[in-house]
Amino acid sequence: MAVTETNGHAYAEDAEIIHCAGVHKWYGEFHVLRDINLSVRRGERIVICGPSGSGKSTLIRCLNRLEEHQKGRIVIDGIELTGNLKNIELVRREVGMVFQHFNLFPHLTVLENCTLAPIWVRRRPKKEAESEAMQYLERVQIADQAHKYPGQLSGGQQQRVAIARSLCMKPKIMLFDEPTSALDPEMVKEVLDVMVGLASSGMTMLCVTHEMGFAKSVADRVIFMDRGEIVEQNTPDLFFTNPKSDRTRLFLSQILSH
Ligand SMILES: Nc1ncnc2c1ncn2[C@@H]1O[C@H](COP(=O)(O)OP(=O)(O)OP(=O)(O)O)[C@@H](O)[C@H]1O
Ligand SMILES: [Mg+2]
Repeated sequence: MAVTETNGHAYAEDAEIIHCAGVHKWYGEFHVLRDINLSVRRGERIVICGPSGSGKSTLIRCLNRLEEHQKGRIVIDGIELTGNLKNIELVRREVGMVFQHFNLFPHLTVLENCTLAPIWVRRRPKKEAESEAMQYLERVQIADQAHKYPGQLSGGQQQRVAIARSLCMKPKIMLFDEPTSALDPEMVKEVLDVMVGLASSGMTMLCVTHEMGFAKSVADRVIFMDRGEIVEQNTPDLFFTNPKSDRTRLFLSQILSH
C-alpha cells in the first residue's frame, strides 16, 4: 500500500474518509455552497479559511448533516448522507464537532457533560463512561475541574471540556468551527495546544479557523473558500507563500495585517 508522508504524518493514500462530489446547497434562493468537490484522507488535517459568509460553517455542518445539501454526494467513511435516518445516525457517531460557543450543558457538571452521550447514546455503563471521561479530561488538562459546572470555568477551560466531551464518543473525524474565536487572547493558546496534540495523535481533523500559525504548523492542506466555492487549496507552505488567486491574496493580506 502506498504511504505518503506529510508534515511528518504517514497515512495510506487510498484511505479516503470524506468524499464530497458536486455538492450544492441553497438557503431559499441563496446559493450558499457551489459545486464543492473535496476528498479527505484518513488522518489528514485540514484548515478551512475564507471571508465571513463564504460558507465555511455551512460546509462543515453538512458533513454531519446539521445542514442538508440539495445536490451532489457526501460520503463519510463509506456512508452516504441522504435522507436515510439510519445513515445520519451512523455518521454522527463517527463525527465529533466543536463550536465557537462551546455549547456545554450549563446544568451538568464537566464530568456529566462528558458522560451524557456515552451513557445514553452508546449505552456505556456509568462507571466505565466516567473513568474514560476522566482520561480525556486529563488529556485536555482539566481533570481537576471535573465536578465544576461550565459557568465556573474560563472560556478556554470550557472549550477544552467541549473537546474532551467530543472525544468521549471516540469519533473518527473531528470538525472544529472557529473554536478559538470567542476566546480572550490569553486562552487561545491552551486550546490550540490541545488541538495540536489531537492532530499528532492521527485524528482526521477539519478546522475552520483564522489561526494561521496553527495552519502552518499543523495542517496538511489549507482550503480557501469564497462565495460558496472552494477557490484554492494547497499545502500551507505554498498557500501562504504562493497564493494563486487574487481573492486568496486579498484575504491573506487582510488577515495577516492584523
Ligand atoms: N440558516 C440560514 N438561513 C439563511 N441563510 C443562512 C443561514 N445560515 C447561513 N446563512 C447565510 O449563508 C452564508 C454562509 O454562511 P456561513 O455561516 O456558512 O458562513 P461562514 O463562512 O461560516 O461565515 P463566518 O466566517 O462569519 O462564520 C451567509 O451569507 C449567511 O448569511
Ligand atoms: Mg462560520
